[in-house]
Amino acid sequence: MSDLRSILTFFGEMGAEFLHLPVNDPRAELAELNREILQCRRCRLHETKTQYVPGEGSQHPGIFFVGEGPGETEDQFGRPFIGRAGQLLDRIIQKMGMTRDDVFIGNVVKCRPPNNREPLKDEVEACLPFLRRQIAVLRPRVIVCLGKVALNNLLNSSYSMGRIRGQVLDFEGTPLVPTYHPAFILHKKDKEDISRAKWEVWEDMQKVLELIRRDRP
Ligand code: URA
Repeated sequence: MSDLRSILTFFGEMGAEFLHLPVNDPRAELAELNREILQCRRCRLHETKTQYVPGEGSQHPGIFFVGEGPGETEDQFGRPFIGRAGQLLDRIIQKMGMTRDDVFIGNVVKCRPPNNREPLKDEVEACLPFLRRQIAVLRPRVIVCLGKVALNNLLNSSYSMGRIRGQVLDFEGTPLVPTYHPAFILHKKDKEDISRAKWEVWEDMQKVLELIRRDRP
């Protein structure tokens, strides 16, 4: 405190009327990032997409959910996870006691790959810097990777989701929890398989909630 007083006295004596302190202003940084995404031509996906899907949600999110890339509905409306997989994600978020406005939802690639194929290596390389910057600006308490495409591209790894899910990993100092992609669950035919996968996702989300609570001042 006395240090602060002597610094302010020093600036006062120097005749300074304002102090320009660096502040974390996610709104401005996110707006700039969105502007860049909305005019991106770094890979071929911008040629076939209908709309860019930059991601959306809270500017101070507890959780940043990362998916793979926009599907057909997302491509049409420019919003992430609003199709069938999105409805399941909404239910998961709701069961966690939150809404979409409390979290941030984004993807590895911001344009829909044709026919919902997996994004190619060069497409991911072109787009990943946007996701990394979103994470740096938003500073979520926990990152949840939905599916192995999100997980292995973000961590530059080759984990099997079945083996690694639910463990707490680390992305540059932020806890990262991998879990199944909602579409993976929706594609299952067997009722028992579906129930088991949903239960496992729910277990993983308990871990996420624990991390958020532990972190709370
Ligand atoms: N699947 C994803 O990975 N992302 C979306 O936005 C929608 C479906």
